[in-house]
Amino acid sequence: MKEILVIYYSQSGQLKEISNNLLSSLAKNVDYNITYKEIEPVKSYPFPWKSDDFFNVMPESVLGVKCEINEVDFEKNNYDLIILAHQIWYLSPSIPFWSFLQDDKYKHIFKDTKVITLVGARNMWVMALKDISKRLKEIGAKHVGNIVFIDKHNNLISVLTIIKWMFTAKKGPYKNLPEAGVSTKEINYASKYGELIKTAFENNNFEDFQSKVVSIGGVPINFAVKITEQNAKRIFKIWANKIIKKGEMENPKRLLLVRAFKNYLLFLIFAISPIVHILFMLIFYLLYPITSKKISDISLLKL
Ligand SMILES: Cc1cc2nc3c(=O)[nH]c(=O)nc-3n(C[C@H](O)[C@H](O)[C@H](O)COP(=O)(O)O)c2cc1C
Repeated sequence: MKEILVIYYSQSGQLKEISNNLLSSLAKNVDYNITYKEIEPVKSYPFPWKSDDFFNVMPESVLGVKCEINEVDFEKNNYDLIILAHQIWYLSPSIPFWSFLQDDKYKHIFKDTKVITLVGARNMWVMALKDISKRLKEIGAKHVGNIVFIDKHNNLISVLTIIKWMFTAKKGPYKNLPEAGVSTKEINYASKYGELIKTAFENNNFEDFQSKVVSIGGVPINFAVKITEQNAKRIFKIWANKIIKKGEMENPKRLLLVRAFKNYLLFLIFAISPIVHILFMLIFYLLYPITSKKISDISLLKL
């Protein structure tokens, strides 16, 4: 019997749905036992979000400041595979998920254990993967896979729909805009990755698991988006350090700067990013041997 542990946090339930579908065939198989553990912040983050709250979590997300989470109890000390289902907040692992992963109290379950990270995000997840991968190395986990579910619509469309979704809790499709987040079709087809997990267990070999995930489209990645992310994270850190100096999340003294950050971010997204996107795509094609290798390395977890 193979023991699979799924640790997840999800405000809308999207990541739970993806995890369920991904593991649907294993769940019906008597050779596998799947346990789900939810990460629960002591003080839950609002969903749907209010605008100020949404932008106010940026500093703590980017600087990796932990929140308090309810104790997570594990029935076993060892699992054959751990799946970490998480989302991205401001190019960083979400605060609740990061608070769990950073907690040394839980590091024993990761020691020498195979881990697959499962991302459900808008479209910018690479910078967060680097942090997560570093932490997994630190605690002795074997990071054997990374499966990514994103919104595949145009960047600006996906910004508009995610704002609608986050602020209303309604995923759409809306009158003039498509469904927000990961499409229902992609969620429904998530079981194809579960089949790869089953094969890897049957062959007792996870060595080529990630390349198989990549070959069936499990790591959508775009060079221009990746470079945008890299630059944006640097800018976010500057704002985060400024805002956090004004006090903790609840401190109203932060609000003025948080609102300035919101306006700055919307300006970056809608006025600057379309232009730099074209520039970064040009760089991608001009330096193709180097840039395509970079993308391939990230996909294959050679970070
Ligand atoms: C505060 C906040 C910041 C976010 N920042 C990003 C981001 O930087 N990159 C990204 O791809 N998605 C971002 N998202 C979208 C989430 O990664 C995720 O797809 C969405 O919140 C749904 O996740 P859920 O499973 O928790 O409902 C953000 C969401 C929130 C709430």
